[in-house]
Amino acid sequence: MTHAIHYERVDDIAILKAQNPPVNALGIDVRLGLLAGIERAEAEGARAVLIYGDGRTFFAGADIREFGKPMKDPGLPDLCNRIESADLIVVSALHGTALGGGLEVALSSHYRIAVPSAKMGLPEVHLGILPGAGGTQRLPRVAGTEAALDMITSGRHFGAAEALEKGVIDRVQEGEPREIGLAYARELLDQGAPRRPVCDMPAPAAVDFDAVYEKTLAKGRGQLSPATAVRAVQAACEAASFLEGLRRERELFTELMESDQRQGLIHAFFSERAVSKLPELADVTPRDVASVGVIGGGTMGAGIATAALLAGVSVVLIERDASAAEAAGQRISGNLSGALKRGKISQDQFDTMTGDALELATEYGALEQVDLVIEAVFEDMDVKREVFKALDANCKPGAILASNTSYLDINEIAAATSRPRDVIGLHFFSPAHVMKLLEVVVADQTDPDVVATGFALGKRLRKISVRSGVCDGFIGNRIMNAYRKAADYMVLDGASPYQIDRVMTGFGFAMGPFAVGDLAGLDIGWAARKRRAPHRDPRERVVHFADMLCEGGDFGQKTGKGFYVYEAGKRGGTPNPDVEKYIAQDQADQGVSPREFSDAEILRRYMCAMVNEAAKVVGEGIARRPLDVDMVLLFGYGFPRYHGGPLKWADLQGLAGILEDIETYAKEDPYFWQPAPLLQTLVAEGRCFDDLNKAEK
Ligand code: 3HC
Ligand code: NAI
Repeated sequence: MTHAIHYERVDDIAILKAQNPPVNALGIDVRLGLLAGIERAEAEGARAVLIYGDGRTFFAGADIREFGKPMKDPGLPDLCNRIESADLIVVSALHGTALGGGLEVALSSHYRIAVPSAKMGLPEVHLGILPGAGGTQRLPRVAGTEAALDMITSGRHFGAAEALEKGVIDRVQEGEPREIGLAYARELLDQGAPRRPVCDMPAPAAVDFDAVYEKTLAKGRGQLSPATAVRAVQAACEAASFLEGLRRERELFTELMESDQRQGLIHAFFSERAVSKLPELADVTPRDVASVGVIGGGTMGAGIATAALLAGVSVVLIERDASAAEAAGQRISGNLSGALKRGKISQDQFDTMTGDALELATEYGALEQVDLVIEAVFEDMDVKREVFKALDANCKPGAILASNTSYLDINEIAAATSRPRDVIGLHFFSPAHVMKLLEVVVADQTDPDVVATGFALGKRLRKISVRSGVCDGFIGNRIMNAYRKAADYMVLDGASPYQIDRVMTGFGFAMGPFAVGDLAGLDIGWAARKRRAPHRDPRERVVHFADMLCEGGDFGQKTGKGFYVYEAGKRGGTPNPDVEKYIAQDQADQGVSPREFSDAEILRRYMCAMVNEAAKVVGEGIARRPLDVDMVLLFGYGFPRYHGGPLKWADLQGLAGILEDIETYAKEDPYFWQPAPLLQTLVAEGRCFDDLNKAEK
C-alpha cells in the first residue's frame, strides 16, 4: 500500500480510503495504492471492496500536475480496467466532487452510491482533453448516448439527484461516505448481488454523430476538445467491442493531450488559482467590510452595487440629485430582476436587496458608517478630485476609498485626500455584476491591508482579482489600446474592419475589435483620443476614420449605427457603407496607398501588438507576472481561454519569431513597434514567459 490509500477490513469487506489532500487527485501514489488495495482484497478473499475519499471529496480527477510528463504505471485507464475486472464486488461511495478520473473510477466500480450533496462530472474538455480512462465508453452505457454527450461535451457538474435519474449512480443516501458505502456493500452481499461491470453492458444507441460534431465544434468557437469527445462517444456506440472503443478513446485523448489547446487550458486552470495569491499579503489581515458606498449610479456604479448586493454586502449609493438616484435604483433593480428571473436569487432576497440592503442618497453624510467606497462617476480628473475630497471629509477613519477609473492616475486621486494610504483602484468591467475580472490597482502609498481588502472583496464578489500597478489604462486597457491601434493602422493601410473582425472571431474571440467598439460605444474611444491629442508624440501615426463616424453622431449600437448598422430586433449588424467612404477619405488625406492583407498577417500583427505591450506591462512591473496579464485578457477582454492568454500563446508560438516580426514591422513604423525590452531579454536568454511565472512560485 502507499500512504495515499488506507486499507482496512470490516468482516469480508475491504475498505480503500483515499487520503491525498486537498482533493484526492489520482496521482501516482493514489493509483499504486488503489491497485495494491484491490489485489490485496482479492488475495485475502474479501467478497467486496468499498472505495471512498477522506476529507472534503471523492477523487476530483487525475492529477493535472502530471500532464505533459511521462505517465507512470499504472496509468488511470489500466487501473480502471483492473478495478472493473476485480473478481469481487466493487462499490464506490461518492461525496464532494467526483470529477473526471474520479467519476471514471466510480464508473469502473460495479455499484455507486452518493450523498445528496455530491457533485459529479466529466469536465476534461475544459482542460483541453477528453475523459481518458473509459469515461466516454462507460458513461453512455449507463446514462444513454444523449445524456452522455451533453455531460461530456459541456463538462458541466451535475448533482446526485440528476445522476440517479440518469442512471450514473444507483442510490443517494444521507450519511458519511464510509458508513453508507459499507451498508450498501453489506446489503449487496446479503442479497447475493452479482458483479456488474459496465463493460459488459450493451453498446448504447447511435445518433447522428456528424451533426453533433459540427454543432459542438461551432459552439466551442474553435475549441477542439468537446468536438473530439463526440467522436470518442461515437466509438462507444459503433466500435466492434468495448476494448476497441477504449482504444479509440485513447487515440483521441493522446491527440488532444499533445495539443497547444491543452497547454493553454491547463495554464488557465492553474493561473486562475495563482493570480490572487500574493506572497506579500500572506500575513496581512484584510479590513472588515460589512457595507460599501458607491458614488455614481450610471452603468458601472449600478453594476458594482448589484454585484455587492448579490454577495450579501449592503450598499449606500450616492447620486447627484434625487432623479439620478431614482434612475440608479431602477438600473439596480433591473439587474437584480435578471438574477431573479434566472433563478439566481429568490423573491425574498430580491426584496431585501432592493429594500433594506440598498440606500439611495444624494448627501455624502449617508456614507458615515460604510467601510469601503467605490467611486464610479464621470471619467474626469477634476470631478474625481472633488468626489475624493468629499469622501475624505465624510467617511470614517479606516474606511477604504476606491476608484473605478478606467485610465486616470490613482496617485493623483489619492493626493486629493488626507489619507492616501487608504486609497486604491478597484477597476471593474462592464457589466460589473457579470464580468469576472477585477483589477486591484495599487498606488504608491496604498497600505498592504487595503490591498488585501481589495482582494478579499473581489473573492466575495466572485471575481478573478489581479494586482496592477498604476499606468495609463492599467494592465488591460493599456494592452487593449495597443492592439486596437494595430487594428486601426491595418485598416488605414488597406485591411477592412470586417476582415479583421472575421479573423479575430476565427481566432476564438466572441467578437472582433470593431464590433466590440460598437458595443462599448465609439464615443468612449473618441473622448480618450481627444484627451490625449495635446500630449501625442509627433511620431505617432494617427487615424481619423473612427472620429469621422463619431462626428456624424454614429456611436455604435446605442445609436443604431457604428462600424455596423443595427436593426431593431436583429442580432448583430451589417457593415455600415459609410465606413468605407471615411476610410478612403482618411487614406487620401494621409497619402496612403491601400494594400491587401492576408488573414494570417492580420492575426500576426494584432497578436504581436498585444504580446509586445503585454511584455512591456510585465517588464515595467505593472503586472507582477505574465500569468497576471493572461488572466486579465481572459476574464476582461474575451481572449479565448483555449489559447491560455496572450503570453502563453506567445510562448507556444515561439518568442524569437514574434520578436523578429515586431522588428520587421518596426521598419515601417518604428514608433509604434518598439520591441519590449523584456521580450528582447527573454529571446536573448532563450527563455519564455512561463519561466517567469515559475520563478515566482
Ligand atoms: N489535479 C491536481 N491539483 C488539483 C486538481 C487536480 N485534478 N484539482 C484541484 N487541484 C488543486 C488546485 O490547483 C488547488 O491547489 P492550490 O491550493 O495549490 O492552488 C487545490 O487543489 C484546491 O483546488 P481549488 O482551489 O480549485 O478548490 P475548490 O474547492 O474551489 O474546487 C474542485 C475543487 C471543484 C475539485 C476544483 O479544484 C476542480 O474543478 N478541479 C479540477 C477537476 C478536474 O478538472 N478534474 C478532471 C481532471 S482531468 C482527468 O481526470 C483526466 C482523466 O479523464 C484521465
Ligand atoms: P456613466 O456616465 O454611465 O455614469 C456616471 C454616473 O456618475 C452618472 O449617473 C452621474 O450622474 C454620476 N455622477 C457624476 N458626478 C457625480 C458626483 N459628483 N456625485 C455623484 N454622482 C455623480 O459612466 P460609467 O460608464 O458608469 O463610468 C463611470 C466610471 O467607471 C468612469 O470612471 C469610467 O471610466 C469607469 N469605467 C467604465 C466602464 C464602462 O465600460 N463604461 C468600465 C470600467 C470603468
